[in-house]
Amino acid sequence: MKSSPLATLKNNTQRFNAKHAVDAKTTLRLKAAAWCQPLNVFEGFYGSGEMRKRAWSNADYWVGCDTEPWKAGQEPRLVGDNRIALRSLDLGRFNVFDLDAFGSPWDQLLIISERRQWDMGEHGSIVITDGTSMNLRLGSVPKSLAQLVGVSSRRSSGNGLELQSQGLLAWCEVSHVRPVDIFSARGDTCAVMKYSCVNFEGL
Ligand SMILES: C[S@@+](CC[C@H](N)C(=O)[O-])C[C@H]1O[C@@H](n2cnc3c(N)ncnc32)[C@H](O)[C@@H]1O
Repeated sequence: MKSSPLATLKNNTQRFNAKHAVDAKTTLRLKAAAWCQPLNVFEGFYGSGEMRKRAWSNADYWVGCDTEPWKAGQEPRLVGDNRIALRSLDLGRFNVFDLDAFGSPWDQLLIISERRQWDMGEHGSIVITDGTSMNLRLGSVPKSLAQLVGVSSRRSSGNGLELQSQGLLAWCEVSHVRPVDIFSARGDTCAVMKYSCVNFEGL
């Protein structure tokens, strides 16, 4: 019998140190690439372009965004806060949302849930890095995560990783999609990073 998506998340979270985090992040993105064909990616946190090179080089359509401006000779991308881009673009052009944040990806996820509708059976993926574990452990929940899960943004300290998992499932529910596979990994640096990929289909 197939286990529930929440149980899968609890049991299948691999741990990686910083050195191997790039490999772990790449592996999760390749899972999304295998699920979503054609592959139309919105990469909200472009950074140095490592994931673009390792995972999205064969994308059929790709738009990157970063607050840092790009220089002559580099690949063109949007410059600015990705939340503005996500509120402005036609999100129907993308089936993969890559949110490799240092901090919280939950504002972005909330915007996507409000603005992207999925056809029945349509394949999509979200691939995220969530660096909010420490805040969650101290009882401070990002407002957008609190809104998705239906908890107070001030709560007594608790199991952050579990709240992050609940957030992903709540995102699927409000987005009217069914999670088909959930992959996750944990980076054990000074700030605990949680990496996840959710492959889903529209309901
Ligand atoms: C962890 S790095 C991304 C690494 C990237 N995926 C790669 O492959 O190199 C985070 C990046 O997000 C950018 N950033 C932070 N907040 C942002 C926002 N609200 N909108 C767009 N970019 C943002 C930072 O400038 C930084 O380059």
